[in-house]
Amino acid sequence: MLARRLGEYHRGGRRYSNADIDALIGIRRDSTEARLDFTDLILTYGHHRVDTGDFPYRIIRRAFRRLAGYSWSSLLDIGCGYGRVLFYAAALFECRGYGIELIAERAREAARVRQHRGWHAIQIQQGDITRLDWPPADCYFVMNSVLPEYMPDLSRRVDAIARQRRIFVVSHSTANQFFAALPSLHEFAADPRAGSFGLKTYCSKP
Ligand SMILES: C[S@@+](CC[C@H](N)C(=O)[O-])C[C@H]1O[C@@H](n2cnc3c(N)ncnc32)[C@H](O)[C@@H]1O
Repeated sequence: MLARRLGEYHRGGRRYSNADIDALIGIRRDSTEARLDFTDLILTYGHHRVDTGDFPYRIIRRAFRRLAGYSWSSLLDIGCGYGRVLFYAAALFECRGYGIELIAERAREAARVRQHRGWHAIQIQQGDITRLDWPPADCYFVMNSVLPEYMPDLSRRVDAIARQRRIFVVSHSTANQFFAALPSLHEFAADPRAGSFGLKTYCSKP
């Protein structure tokens, strides 16, 4: 039922709110967020972008529509939050997915959903993306997840990977300027209406 409904949404045949899609997947985002306190998060994790953000599923949908027709089989969501990107992909595509999320409560909730759904091709790890090794993937989502001061190092890591093999990078907001500056990447499926901080898709140069 989930794959059918999300498939209709993906093709544009159904309208859902973000809360509707969270509920369809089974993500308890609001009740988990209600237990978090911003000051406690800063005290626990230090200087990081710890807010959950307000990414609508429409952006995730648009990203995957842009990737349609390209060959990719595994994705890494950098700062995966509740795993929405990974779960959207797991419901609709044959792929493996990895998510790394700083905040333990969010990672735990994503892991619960993954277990409940039996999505064993998805792995969720709690930790700091700037310190961990990354599992190999060919599609990287960087949805404005880390503070700009971590982006030079993060984009250098992406650059090193892009020089070795063909990868895709989906990015939003301030992260865009770092990927746009990488000689190993070029933008594709550009939306002429989007400004420099809108949704961007990049691919390794051949
Ligand atoms: C804007 S949310 C995006 C969540 C998810 N990608 C989505 O589209 O639904 C960014 C997430 O990145 C996490 N985050 C921030 N800094 C991080 C870090 N250094 N390592 C891992 N996760 C981080 C935050 O806790 C937050 O849940």
